[in-house]
Order: sequence, then C-alpha cells, then structure tokens
Amino acid sequence: MTRVSDQNYLLTEQYHNAANLTDRIRLHEQFSTSAYDWMAWVFDQYQLPANARILEVGCGPADCWHKNRQRIPAGWDITLSDFSPGMLEAARTHLGDQVGRFAFRVIDAQAIPYDDVFFDVVIANHMLYHIPDRAAALAEIQRVLKPGGQFFATTIGPTHLQELYELARWFDPNITFGGVQNPFDLDNGLAQLARWFEDVQIERFPDNLLVTEVAPLVAFILSTTGNAREILQGERLTAFIACVEAEFAQQNGTFFITKDSGMFKARRA
Ligand SMILES: C[S@@+](CC[C@H](N)C(=O)[O-])C[C@H]1O[C@@H](n2cnc3c(N)ncnc32)[C@H](O)[C@@H]1O
Repeated sequence: MTRVSDQNYLLTEQYHNAANLTDRIRLHEQFSTSAYDWMAWVFDQYQLPANARILEVGCGPADCWHKNRQRIPAGWDITLSDFSPGMLEAARTHLGDQVGRFAFRVIDAQAIPYDDVFFDVVIANHMLYHIPDRAAALAEIQRVLKPGGQFFATTIGPTHLQELYELARWFDPNITFGGVQNPFDLDNGLAQLARWFEDVQIERFPDNLLVTEVAPLVAFILSTTGNAREILQGERLTAFIACVEAEFAQQNGTFFITKDSGMFKARRA
C-alpha cells in the first residue's frame, strides 16, 4: 500500500494535526495566479436550499467554512467530521467565534454512523484518494443521503503541480510523493462515482502557481505524503534549497507550476 491511502500513516503522521496541510495551503494562498480564491470557488459550487442538513467527511481544518463564514445561510445544519481528532481540533480552533454553528464528530468515511437517508448534502473534498476502500465510503455516502441529495467532491488532476514534483525528483529520483497514480482524480473519478450516483458532473477550476519565494515551495515539498522529509535532511536539504534557488534564478526569480483542481457534483437517485 502506498502512503497516500495508508490510514495509519495518515492518522499518526501526515494528518496528526494540521501542520502539513497548512504548509501546502499556504503555497496556494500566496502564489495562485487566479484572483478567484479556491475556497470561494468551492463554496460557490454549493447551490443549496436555505435549509439543508450537511455532512462533510475529511473536513481537515475547515478552511472553506472559515473563509466563507460570513456567507453561510442560517438554515444550514452542518456537521464537520474527520477521522483525525487532531484535524477536528484544528477545525474547532480555526472557526473561532463561529464554532457554535457547527457540530463536530470523529468519523471514518468508510463507516458513517448515521441512519439511512439522513443528509441533504455530503461533501468530501480532497480526501477520497486517501480512502483504501473507496467503494465502502461511496456506498456509505450514498446510503446517508436522501433521494435527490447532493454530493460534492473536490480532487486534483494528473498534471497538478507536475513541475514541483519533477523538480524534486530531478534533484533526487528516490523522492516519492505518495503513489504513482492518484486513485481518485479528475480523470478516473467520474467512472467511480457513476456506480453510486446520478448526474455526475465535473467542474475544473482554472488556476496556476507563479512562485517567487523558495522557502514556501521547499516547505510544501517537505509536507507531502511521501518520503521527501526523510530524504531531505541536513546537507541534502541544504543542497536541495541551493538547487531550487538556482532554478528560480534561471527563471528570473520565479517558478511556474501547473494546477489542475476541480469538483465532482453528483446526486443520489
Ligand atoms: C488533503 S486533507 C483535505 C482537508 C479538507 N477537506 C480540504 O479540502 O482542505 C484530507 C483529509 O482527509 C482526512 N481523512 C483521511 N482518511 C480519512 C478517512 N478514512 N475518513 C475520514 N477522513 C479521512 C484527513 O485526516 C485529512 O484531514
């Protein structure tokens, strides 16, 4: 099993708390070329009724809810869940004075502890590729949704951040990033969802990164689901930073990175 779906590694190291994910989100926040913020775009996709019972699985530090906190309709009843208690704690802290608007629950998406036909909406953003038994998770999400209920799932595409990964592997071919092929991406996800849901649609978010600082890019690489942190230590880390600096210098102090992100929208029959 690769680290991307190694639930023990994810729970005890990668997502033990929000630190790794925060380093990755920071690179996007600082250097995205689009003026349309990703989290605002994600929230804009939730075209929901004024009253809706919503479950998010794998919510992480609840960035989307935090960023859009002024826009959440009063009639939305929102439960945020994650299998990592540390992540849920980060979500609570992050939501600050809005925390009372949400319920929180530790949940493994492969076994959702709610009755059938309970939710109007389920959200699973950037997390389905982590699930070893994705069919079980999708069956659970379908089961807890009401007929006609909506499912939203963001993920990445095959070219996402390819220049960043190539740069690290060019420096050291032994560096890996979790797995060879993403098991749930914008290319292979639709067929997986079509087994459980109707009207599966895909929306891509147009954006790229133009990075102008070395440190946030290196922090991103060290935070990833793979072995970069183990390999890039001491002198190897110093050499890698010098390599990234040289690459920036060749491109007039910038480094361009392709982004490929988007959302699946689906409905329970
Ligand atoms: C890349 S983060 C995404 C966080 C957030 N949804 C976002 O888009 O910013 C993946 C999240 O999935 C959670 N996760 C991984 N496996 C899970 C599982 N089996 N059940 C529930 N959550 C899981 C991790 O703890 C982590 O918070």
